[in-house]
Amino acid sequence: MTNAQFKRRVFSGIKPSGGLTMGNYLGAIKRFVEMQNADTESIYCVVDMHAITVWQDPADLRHATRELVAAYIASGIDPETSILFNQSQVSAHAELGWIFNCVARVGWMNRMTQFKDKAGKNTEQVSLGLYAYPSLMAADILIYHATHVPVGEDQKQHVELTRDIAAKFNHDYKVDFFPQPEPIIEGPATRIMNLRDGTKKMSKSGASDMERINMTDDAALIAKKFKKAKSDQEPLPETVAGLKDRPEAKNLVEIYAALSDTSPEAVIKEFAGAQWGRFKPELADLAVSKLEPISQEMSRLMQDPAEIDRILAKGADKANAIAQPILDKAYDIVGFIRR
Ligand code: AMP
Ligand code: TRP
Repeated sequence: MTNAQFKRRVFSGIKPSGGLTMGNYLGAIKRFVEMQNADTESIYCVVDMHAITVWQDPADLRHATRELVAAYIASGIDPETSILFNQSQVSAHAELGWIFNCVARVGWMNRMTQFKDKAGKNTEQVSLGLYAYPSLMAADILIYHATHVPVGEDQKQHVELTRDIAAKFNHDYKVDFFPQPEPIIEGPATRIMNLRDGTKKMSKSGASDMERINMTDDAALIAKKFKKAKSDQEPLPETVAGLKDRPEAKNLVEIYAALSDTSPEAVIKEFAGAQWGRFKPELADLAVSKLEPISQEMSRLMQDPAEIDRILAKGADKANAIAQPILDKAYDIVGFIRR
């Protein structure tokens, strides 16, 4: 099966659960902006239904949803060029998600490493939604027949599962209805690590605030976090190969490369042999110069929540116009009677 009959369409989503980190920005939002162009339909979603797989205070959820929209727009997503909306306003996601719950196998879900990491030893107490989440994510993508899915490295397995669900649906119902979406995992920032431990991902939920850069951190805090970031005793190496087995050094070089739109090779060329005392302040200045305008624009946009809600409603109408006919067709394929 090929994607030949499907037009190129980009879809991705981010959870509005707590603050956004530089990992979300470099690994996801910045790349969404780069993929946005007039010839490709791009659909960017605030996946609020995914957020509630772990407890979210309702007022915090509303705030995080609007703040994520502000971050998308402040970073360069244009709601006229792309479709920008929150998942819960387009009910087709949940409806196709149910069908996919009946297509996906429990054994497939049991292999999802993110579930295992998040549930830990607590598998009896986490929500059923957290377990079924990858099947809703497959619906998010496939309800638009999306062909390209820009994500960070941690989402690769979920996009592969999406391909398996599409293939099993097509096979079981003897149709060629869903495409095989491609994960797009590119650039130097597909996995930004925690600033205090280069073997762990930078995440919204890490224990210490010092381990991540938040999109809302001010210049002084960004500088302090980079200054205190874990590095090692050696100066920067002469070649990229010299970053092997130096996870913290590798991470800081990759962050620099992603922020400056270059490559780790180019960064190493510029800083070969430099001490951390020189590199870290330059990295902090670079980060401030890139992130501060975004956070200022986010604050400005957040002063008008009604406008953000209007943008979401318009985006949801446009998303629904694509999703509903695909859902109708899926219902027909499955054998549901429609009025
Ligand atoms: P989430 O915050 O889990 O909804 O993630 C939203 C997007 O950001 C996904 O595409 C993730 O892969 C990406 N992402 C999250 N954390 C990082 C990170 N530390 N490095 C790179 N990408 C990330
Ligand atoms: N599961 C993704 C994450 O945690 C978010 C997400 C939900 C998503 N639906 C998606 C990403 C569809 C890409 C496409 O980061």
